[in-house]
Amino acid sequence: MVRAPANGGFPQVLRLQRLRCGLTQLQLAALSTVSVRAIRDVESGRVASPRRTTVDLLAGALQLTGQVRVAFCRAAQAESSYLDRMVTDSMRSDTFTRATDDLVGRDHELDTIAGLLVRAPRQRLLTVTGISGVGKSRLALEAGRRVLAEFDIPMLWVPVSDTRNDRTAKGPMPALLRAMATLITGRADTSDELAAIIGTAPMIVFLDGLDDVPVPAPPLLRLLMECPQLTVVATARMPLDIPGECVLPLAPLAVPEPCQERDLDSLVRVPSVGLLLRQVAPMQPDFRLNLANASMVAGLCRILDGLPAALGLAASQCLTEPLPNLYEQLINDPRNLHALISGHSEPMLYSAVIRSIETLPKGHRTLLNRLMEIDGRWTVNDAIGATGLPRPELTRSLHVLLTRGLLRRVEQQGNYFISMLNIVRHACAE
Ligand SMILES: Nc1ncnc2c1ncn2[C@@H]1O[C@H](COP(=O)(O)OP(=O)(O)OP(=O)(O)O)[C@@H](O)[C@H]1O
Ligand SMILES: [Mg+2]
Repeated sequence: MVRAPANGGFPQVLRLQRLRCGLTQLQLAALSTVSVRAIRDVESGRVASPRRTTVDLLAGALQLTGQVRVAFCRAAQAESSYLDRMVTDSMRSDTFTRATDDLVGRDHELDTIAGLLVRAPRQRLLTVTGISGVGKSRLALEAGRRVLAEFDIPMLWVPVSDTRNDRTAKGPMPALLRAMATLITGRADTSDELAAIIGTAPMIVFLDGLDDVPVPAPPLLRLLMECPQLTVVATARMPLDIPGECVLPLAPLAVPEPCQERDLDSLVRVPSVGLLLRQVAPMQPDFRLNLANASMVAGLCRILDGLPAALGLAASQCLTEPLPNLYEQLINDPRNLHALISGHSEPMLYSAVIRSIETLPKGHRTLLNRLMEIDGRWTVNDAIGATGLPRPELTRSLHVLLTRGLLRRVEQQGNYFISMLNIVRHACAE
């Protein structure tokens, strides 16, 4: 953990210089034109990163010159780099260390997110949406790492469910994280405090797992307006519905086409196959992909929708159940998919999918049920034919279902097709 500067840092330096001049905070405020509240915030350490102009105004009012003035300004700068380190350190917290393996696929998504975060015109509020286990957190984390490797932007990772459980809120965490946790859990509107800490400094805040909480939109918007260089990246199963939000719906990993089953080189490059094989390897070291088992592996990836969490569960079963047996079970009885994904190692996955469906507005839920009648991939025109709904109403609903990741969009030779995830089909059937 990063510790505060041993000498007490800029808060103490400012206080000592003020007392040396025999000034109260009120008198210093009057002389410097810096508000008394800002002075109080700096001296109490609530604001770790005072703006450069504030520091200059204070130095002028305290009549600091020469080396003393240089040391005064340096102390303020050291404080802000302390904040940078403290914030970026949250990116290396426990939440992050679990992701030590390489990300599979997602090149386009990573490029897109990294671009939106740093290239002008930047997105200030980006939400990665999708079904549970699709890899939203993992992608956001990787995008953060990529931006961090290239640009020196402080980042704060906020695991929302931890803060909701009060785990983070009680631990020894920086004021910034505490204030952010308080804001997003709706305990209090801390946007003023956050704006004072962040100021005009560039920063990316990740709000990971904004699910099952009413998102405090007004304070979040106020914060974004007060801090022009702040960017917020959220991961959530559905959009936050905040004005200006840019939504990136994340589909599961691509699954193989039947024609790829005869070409092993092409098959292993399909992301869902790559991830499944990587996860099977430690469980079943003698397993090799070959022409005899290629269609079984490809079929398994398709049944599991290329959903990373489901692929992980299937691989973990390999210890007790060879892959072909698992495939047979899933092919013979779809209920076995339910049994697999609600298995003890990730019991939340299936219930999270059910919740994504249950929380749909009624009209969209009805449509989802009717779309179950269409097999395989279909076009919007097919859906109009099958449901009889007018195009505007249908596309509005499809948009909602796609952003929640309950349907996936597939591009084939320049045409767009839509399909329902198997896991969603089973959840609807229940
Ligand atoms: N592209 C990927 N490559 C390798 N592993 C991945 C990939 N995407 C996801 N995973 C792994 O799959 C699991 C589920 O991913 P993750 O936790 O990011 O899902 P999520 O969408 O955030 O789910 P939830 O909505 O429940 O929070 C994690 O173990 C993650 O490391
Ligand atoms: Mg997540």
